Amino acid sequence: MSIETIKEDLVELLAFYAELGVDCALSEEAVDWLNHGHAAPGDAIRQALVPAPNSRDRRTASHPGPVPERTRQGETRRSGGAATVRPERRPPAAAGAARSPLDPGVAAAGTLAARASNLEELRTALESFEGCALRATAKNMCFYRGAKSARLMVIGEAPGRDEDLVGRPFVGRAGQLLDRMLAAIGLNEESVHITNVVYWRPPGNRTPTLQETSSCRPFLERQTALVEPQFLLLLGGAAAKNVLEVSDGIMRLRGKWKQVSLGGRTLRALPTLHPAYLLRTPAAKRQAWQDLISLQRALLESS
Ligand code: URA
Repeated sequence: MSIETIKEDLVELLAFYAELGVDCALSEEAVDWLNHGHAAPGDAIRQALVPAPNSRDRRTASHPGPVPERTRQGETRRSGGAATVRPERRPPAAAGAARSPLDPGVAAAGTLAARASNLEELRTALESFEGCALRATAKNMCFYRGAKSARLMVIGEAPGRDEDLVGRPFVGRAGQLLDRMLAAIGLNEESVHITNVVYWRPPGNRTPTLQETSSCRPFLERQTALVEPQFLLLLGGAAAKNVLEVSDGIMRLRGKWKQVSLGGRTLRALPTLHPAYLLRTPAAKRQAWQDLISLQRALLESS
């Protein structure tokens, strides 16, 4: 076979892959899924994540239908290997308040959040909360989607246009990619809890300010205490910096496990790239895939 023919075959093969939606190489070696037996990718982890019969209610909210495209700008987004701990709950208010004790919004948030004994009460508390300026410009509050109790909590930056219209986090294009990323390691809405560091859309999709994230923080802390995750997946720089309270960029943070205290719990947190960034930069999917493999391993090892 001539070099020219080989080239033509390769070009055709790549075009075929592109049509299937395969737009970048994710690992060093190709996996021949056709010769992989009957197990679908992610089977092992799906079984490991089936809740024990006596576990808490893991019912989920339903997934909305097709959603319009969202247009968040400027998202560049962000993990470790510490032992897993299941500490007892502690009152969550203190951490948020400690970030900015003079801010009345933060203090009010701490008081309101601490009173909630389940997620519905926390939602009601958030609906009555006026200490975050984002509320004034947003159409809807986006609290969470997914399981009420989960080993993995996914935290993003802020709702975008689609989320604001629907009132649920991660339902736009980035959310759809997030769902595909989670599905690739055997996870779905029934096994994860998905939220953001702020509950309302920032005007024009700008990055939330410190005041805005601080006023939402006591709610995020209480939410975490109620969901009782062991692991956090932090999507993008804003979420990683905010939850880990560091100033490093996502490219430095991503893929490195950190131990973090949130909602009175000691958790293992993995920063990774934000799906909105991956939509704009498909070549970075390779790094995100490595992070997902690391997450899958950690979930399996601790089950
Ligand atoms: N990006 C985020 O960080 N959160 C969402 O809910 C949607 C897009």
